Amino acid sequence: MSLNFNDKVVVVTGAGNGLGRSHALLFAALGARVVVNDLGGSGTGEGSDANVADSVVAEIKASGGDAVANPDSVTNGDKIIQCAMDHFGQVDIVINNAGILRDKSFHKMSDDDWDLVYQVHLQGAFKVSRAAFPHMRDQAYGRFVMTTSAAGIYGNFGQANYSAAKLALHGLSQTIAIEGRSKNINSNTIGPVAASRMMGTVMTDDAMELLKPECVSPLVAWLSHETCNATGELFEVGAGWMSQVRWQRSQGAYFDPKGFSIDDVANAWDIVKDFSDPIYPSSIGLTFKAIQGNPHLNDDI
Ligand SMILES: NC(=O)c1ccc[n+]([C@@H]2O[C@H](COP(=O)([O-])OP(=O)(O)OC[C@H]3O[C@@H](n4cnc5c(N)ncnc54)[C@H](O)[C@@H]3O)[C@@H](O)[C@H]2O)c1
Repeated sequence: MSLNFNDKVVVVTGAGNGLGRSHALLFAALGARVVVNDLGGSGTGEGSDANVADSVVAEIKASGGDAVANPDSVTNGDKIIQCAMDHFGQVDIVINNAGILRDKSFHKMSDDDWDLVYQVHLQGAFKVSRAAFPHMRDQAYGRFVMTTSAAGIYGNFGQANYSAAKLALHGLSQTIAIEGRSKNINSNTIGPVAASRMMGTVMTDDAMELLKPECVSPLVAWLSHETCNATGELFEVGAGWMSQVRWQRSQGAYFDPKGFSIDDVANAWDIVKDFSDPIYPSSIGLTFKAIQGNPHLNDDI
């Protein structure tokens, strides 16, 4: 088996460094034409440098691949997609990867730290994806990969801004998956761990060596392939390990909706939190199904 992207155009945001660069190089090696987007700013979002995207394009071309550099911020997502249309006439795959960190403990977090992290991660992915979506609908094919983080899935000290934006990306992905389903547009989310300038501040040198970005890119490529039917799903990946993450819910306790007390909640608490017979809900419909299962509800409610 040899999967390729010979007729595909891929946009990789934040592709000048770390994970994005690795994704871009892999897609190009597998035959895709690649838009290498990178603003080229600092790890905390200051400044810009067009050479950062240019150098990855040079690497791709030196290996016989086809790519174009784009230095726009993801907050101008329409320009990035326009670049793909101008150079390649189509856009098939969008890898939302660009990111920055502005870590502060919550009580010290400024409006600027919150706003900039939100803008790059969540608003940026929204702008790029929304600009690409109509083209994908027209051609009845598209793939999105969003980049979340364990910090988003589980929370992490000092990363309120980052974790909020990162988990929101999975919410965005799940709804794009629902709205894109009838047009063969899939969207999935990865939570990577990889050595990069972003992780250099929180990991030892030994750990950094084991965590090659190249261990994340094959999953990104597979999720982007036309033969992969995963959509709305979430994966963790790093250092040669990958795994799917999903919601788990207890069966729950039922109360009489005509009225119940704080004492009723306290008495049923063990049942609310009992995961001995869990379900794995995957749609909003299953929330309403659980509510409708309340034995106290009248048939006509
Ligand atoms: N490295 C990890 O272990 C890890 C863990 C969890 C999540 N992530 C996520 O993976 C993604 C890539 O991270 P990385 O570790 O490779 O970081 P990195 O800093 O090496 O690369 C991020 C790239 O994004 C670019 N960028 C920043 N703001 C931009 C903007 N407004 N427009 C366009 N480009 C912009 C930067 O210039 C940089 O080249 C990020 O979204 C990050 O949050 C990384």
